[in-house]
Amino acid sequence: MRVVHTASELRGPALRPARRSGDRPSRAVVMTMGALHEGHLALVRAAREAADEVVVTIFVNPLQFDDAEDLDTYPRTLDEDCALLEPLGVDVVFAPGVEEVYPGGPPVVTVSAGRIGEVFEGAHRPGHLDGVLTVVCKLMHLTQPDLAFFGQKDAQQLIAVRTMVRDLTMGVEVVAVPTVRDADGLALSSRNVFLTAPQRAQALILSEAVMAADAAARAGADLDEAVSAAQAALAREPGVALDYLAALDPVTAEGLDGDYRGEAVIAVAAHVGETRLIDNVVTRIGPLLG
Ligand code: PAF
Repeated sequence: MRVVHTASELRGPALRPARRSGDRPSRAVVMTMGALHEGHLALVRAAREAADEVVVTIFVNPLQFDDAEDLDTYPRTLDEDCALLEPLGVDVVFAPGVEEVYPGGPPVVTVSAGRIGEVFEGAHRPGHLDGVLTVVCKLMHLTQPDLAFFGQKDAQQLIAVRTMVRDLTMGVEVVAVPTVRDADGLALSSRNVFLTAPQRAQALILSEAVMAADAAARAGADLDEAVSAAQAALAREPGVALDYLAALDPVTAEGLDGDYRGEAVIAVAAHVGETRLIDNVVTRIGPLLG
């Protein structure tokens, strides 16, 4: 496994030229901000199974932080991250510094998530998804992948990336990997390390809420009833400060009406103490047609 820090090292010996002639995709990328956990490793394993060459990027992207303190305190654990990646057969870790990614300072030209960046996560974290898409676009150019793996846990980010790849004809296949959870249901997140034991117990209500919505939908509930089931769960934990609980269209991230039928993302975001957490489940409202 080679660990490189600059674009020229990446272009040089680290990356073999993309080989698109075989029947396997040549190169897969997994983009991360480090502080790796089993959720990231699931992305890497899926990438390793799918492609000849796996590149993992580790870059804490200042553009996507709406809070300077959050950026400063975000865990940076490159050595530990590399120790987790090496046994998985990763070929290249690209861990650039901020000056390498944004050599002229904050970029003048950026990618806009458009309407996707204005609803739910976007409404609560203005500019966040634009910052994500800008760095994802740059990292796509730098790593030249055939496949890019993203976690379902960041549902709106996944929708935004898919939409960018489609709208800007980026020629990369985006692969979604299911959320990895602790045994008690808590979705893995690099931010979980900030939770005290009592806060971690409170945070469980997020997964319980989205699972309650999923269970209700599977039992035949309509959208409003499914969302109400999640609301009822959240009401049991007043210590959790809700940002939003919503049903999203899995392609556009628009909020869904009560009479909607089809696949829906039930998404929740909340603060537990100082820590902001998100979770979601992809469910189906109404019977499968056809
Ligand atoms: O999901 C993340 O860790 C980040 O948003 C990403 C995709 C690596 C972009 O910085």
